[in-house]
Amino acid sequence: ADARFTIDPDFAIGAVDPRLYGTFVEHMGRCVYTGIYQPDHKTADAAGFRGDVAELVRELGTPLVRYPGGNFVSGYHWEDGVGPAADRPRRLDLAWRSIETNQVGTNEFLGWARDMGLEPMMAVNLGTRGIDAARALVEYCNVPGGTAWSDLRIKHGVSEPHAVKLWCLGNEMDGPWQTGHKTATEYGRLAAETGKSMHQVDPSIELVVCGSSNAEMPTFGSWEAEVLRHTYDEVDHLSLHAYYEEKGGDRASFLASGAHMDAYIADVVATADHVRAVRRARKRITLSFDEWNVWYADRFPGERKLDMAETPRLIEDTYSVTDAVVVGSLLISLLRHADRVAIACLAQLVNVIGPIRSEPGPNGASWRQASFHPFALTARHARGTVLRTEPSAGPRLDTAKYGEVDALDSVVTWDEETGALTVLAVNRDQEHGLTLRAALRGLPHDAYAVVEHLAIADDDPDAANTEAEPNRVVPRRIEGAQVTADGELEAALPPLSWNLLRLA
Ligand code: AHR
Repeated sequence: ADARFTIDPDFAIGAVDPRLYGTFVEHMGRCVYTGIYQPDHKTADAAGFRGDVAELVRELGTPLVRYPGGNFVSGYHWEDGVGPAADRPRRLDLAWRSIETNQVGTNEFLGWARDMGLEPMMAVNLGTRGIDAARALVEYCNVPGGTAWSDLRIKHGVSEPHAVKLWCLGNEMDGPWQTGHKTATEYGRLAAETGKSMHQVDPSIELVVCGSSNAEMPTFGSWEAEVLRHTYDEVDHLSLHAYYEEKGGDRASFLASGAHMDAYIADVVATADHVRAVRRARKRITLSFDEWNVWYADRFPGERKLDMAETPRLIEDTYSVTDAVVVGSLLISLLRHADRVAIACLAQLVNVIGPIRSEPGPNGASWRQASFHPFALTARHARGTVLRTEPSAGPRLDTAKYGEVDALDSVVTWDEETGALTVLAVNRDQEHGLTLRAALRGLPHDAYAVVEHLAIADDDPDAANTEAEPNRVVPRRIEGAQVTADGELEAALPPLSWNLLRLA
């Protein structure tokens, strides 16, 4: 079947903010320890960070990393993680019932991020702590010197301020599982006053306030409205979190997860704009989708009951071709909302539901999960301006969870300077291939040719990368895509596939 749409620079949605390609490092499981950091690994640098993992992080192309949690942050004393490493306490982390050794803390993480060219997005603890700890942390990180906390940082060997611009006011504070869970009113007031104090220390910082933990929370919608009622003037961004998984063999609905993400974003935008209208505010709140991914929560039942251990293996999902296609389509949804979604973080970066896996031990291997590929290719090529694609014709599919959806999910980016076009397209149909036909309008179409067509697709949609077979799932080159004489991009999309087409 054919699926048609038009590519036209007049259909601009907004500029691609590279911060849409953010990721997340939490002190959870093996994300930090034996993930990014492992001093006894053969590739470790002088600071103890793994060189092999760093190489994969660079290749992934993420420009921003959120840290240190997640649920972890809601019980975290950041002071435990600074100063001489030998003096740092071993703490019980209540969120994941793990032993936190504090060998990696603020200075180690921010030093790694700086060396890697990554923008940090720090979260403060609004579960068990509040205004004082948060403003002290901003002072420790961002004030050049001459005050107690900034001088302590200098004493700890970091003479230049870290200049952290982006801060999260807590994490998932609407969730009953959260240490220090609060009502919307309690959290809204605390977040407003904490944000005010943090701004008093450094007026240049941007703040993210917690929205709902997911769109299914009983307080969804009313939580956002109440929290923004208190914090609207103080904050820049409102957070969203969503994890998707295939349940009960319903792959058709799983492949349509982007429809859920689209609706979720639209509802949060509507709620934020409602508060704006009530307040007669000029400013618009943008969204920080600071946790999103595929996560098979059902596969790891009872992990919270684990006995306390250092670096337990937690939620180390292995991702399949199907999961990678869904990750690619969730990125399409995020790009489609580039006018309002300013920040997004794939959760997490390594081992813990990560696109990168690593094994411990001095010779521990590291490899790319299937989901690594659509993320890395999108981050590298989907740049410039996002162009809306409205399918004018094409097959529709029935899904149990989301009703009828288009078989083709797509978005286009256009680099105005070079003219380069990147078409991202998912064929959600598990049985049938699809011919994408996109008319190039308002562009010198006779100047365009297809540079490459890469796809994640496989005869076995459950195929995955493992330590033994790390390159089982890789992007495959597909021949035959072309721009026809009358200016139409024509490409054959395999069944159940994620595709990247580059035109120049
Ligand atoms: O990313 C794993 C966990 O998922 C985070 O700690 C929490 O914020 C979310 O519930």
